[in-house]
Amino acid sequence: CGIVGYVGREDRCVEVLLEGLRHLEYRGYDSAGLALQRPDRIERIRRVGHLENLERALRERNGDYSRVTTGVGHTRWATHGRPSEENAHPHLGGSGAVAVVHNGIIENFAALKAELEGRGVRFDSETDTEVVAHLLEERVLAGAGLREAFAEILPRLEGTFAIAAISMKEPGRIVAARHQSPLVVGLGEGESFLASGIPALLGRTRRFLLVENGEVAELTADSARIFDADGRPVERGVFEVDWDAEAVELGGFESYMLKEIHEQPTALRATLAEYLGPEGEVDLSPAGLSLADVGRVVVVACGTAYHAGLLGKTYIERLAGLPVEVSVASEYRYSDPLGDERTLVVAISQSGETIDTLAAVEAARGFGGKVLAITNTRGSLITREADAVLLTGAGPEIGVAATKTFLTQISALQALALALAAARKTLPEDELLRLGRGLRRLPERVEEALGLAEPAAWKAAGLFEEARCALFLGRGPAYPVALEGALKLKEISYLPAEGYPAGEMKHGPIALVDERCPVVAVIGEGLLREKTLSNIEETVARGAPVVAVADPGDRQARRVSRLLLPVPGDDGLLGPYLWTVPLQLLAYHVARARGLDVDKPRNLAKSVTVE
Ligand code: G6P
Repeated sequence: CGIVGYVGREDRCVEVLLEGLRHLEYRGYDSAGLALQRPDRIERIRRVGHLENLERALRERNGDYSRVTTGVGHTRWATHGRPSEENAHPHLGGSGAVAVVHNGIIENFAALKAELEGRGVRFDSETDTEVVAHLLEERVLAGAGLREAFAEILPRLEGTFAIAAISMKEPGRIVAARHQSPLVVGLGEGESFLASGIPALLGRTRRFLLVENGEVAELTADSARIFDADGRPVERGVFEVDWDAEAVELGGFESYMLKEIHEQPTALRATLAEYLGPEGEVDLSPAGLSLADVGRVVVVACGTAYHAGLLGKTYIERLAGLPVEVSVASEYRYSDPLGDERTLVVAISQSGETIDTLAAVEAARGFGGKVLAITNTRGSLITREADAVLLTGAGPEIGVAATKTFLTQISALQALALALAAARKTLPEDELLRLGRGLRRLPERVEEALGLAEPAAWKAAGLFEEARCALFLGRGPAYPVALEGALKLKEISYLPAEGYPAGEMKHGPIALVDERCPVVAVIGEGLLREKTLSNIEETVARGAPVVAVADPGDRQARRVSRLLLPVPGDDGLLGPYLWTVPLQLLAYHVARARGLDVDKPRNLAKSVTVE
């Protein structure tokens, strides 16, 4: 979900709120709403579905919003209660004196709700958020100021949240608080802003105050102040942002996803420039990391970042000879994890705010592990939790299905593997430099891969017209690529797709195979190439249309497949990047052919800040 707030000039409140929500829509788009402070009431407008439905409703009302100075807005990804207008935020207290927007989950809401109902409070929605609105309003009606009301109720809330509220009794003021979910304050001249992410406000300000866990922020047109849990004012330095807001625009592409797929060479160039010198020498000192004493590596991540972690395992084990365990963060956090001070915990998160990944980091703290975050978002929560940070230089990624951040995550992991190998002296220096120089050539190789894949992926999408499912197969480093290819396809085309180790396929998934279940085979290199080819023969024998991801000169791959997705050959370590590109484009074209919204697939959110 996403939160925005604005207090300041009367000619631009609604405009700023909607603009902020547009930038936050990637965090969920089941419904959206605004609460605006009028002289005599809080006016609330909510709509189910994408933000444009709310924008249309505002236009249709033809309302005069030019006198509104204060408001809060929300875009929702449903947790408690289906996506409906009643469940959309903002939520009001019973007499409409207080309006609340909330990200996260109030875990003890059922108990709080029962208590409120016991006092005669009636609920309008099925959400956990509504309890906050009622609790705040009770205090406000009893005479408390809004900030005081927050201080009174916060100790009662369990779970994760960022909450913002306005009150009829204190026009021109927004109060907000956070526990685990992100929240930032934007500073302006005669106006103040609030949001759950910096990008929401970049069109308006570059100066921010980052609200920490347990703190309360209070905004008026002329001031933005932060208080600790005991109500004492906190001095917070201004966080200045120098990102390029332009990078968020579409720039001629028909969707963000397509644009971001094509930005991969640039994104890799920017990432590698940070950590690799011109001769291929790797230098992770910008991350502030000491690798001398690492005995074991644990990677935690979710979704696409987890697939990057699986590839990281290959690189680190192969180059640095260290054992690597890769865990899905939501499993790891509850697993009584084993480790010691010599365990390096690598947490990968594009957004840096995925709640399960943050919790996995906390779990690793239990055994004294050092935490290295790999993230694309400067200033995100994970950068504040970690001991060291490797930033990926992908720039803003708007398409919900991750593309360029995946490749940049792998490249950061490969740089880490080289640095670990150097620290542990597992490879001779000239070999390390040779591999480093190979990695520096990656952006050009990916450019080549894009050029080869574009027409072929479009053509291969034709094979999926009548498909009812798809299998993605690979072995070794091609296996995580197959997982990622299947994830991309199911995310945006809604076609059931499984990624499987090619050798394991005969133990189950082969039962799915027929003419309407295409098999996408990532052929790979070396010994595993031969093995994969024989596995593919087994599916061909059962009538599967096969799409092979392979070197165009690979005659055997051509023979077994109905269509070939050509990739540049690579006998080094760059294969996984090159094999990924055509699979991203294949998913894209299958979804487009089905007329689907590739940037905002149903039910998903770009960043998942709830458990
Ligand atoms: C969501 C997104 C995925 C992403 C995952 C992890 O599910 O839809 O694309 O891979 O979260 O996000 P993170 O920001 O932690 O990398």
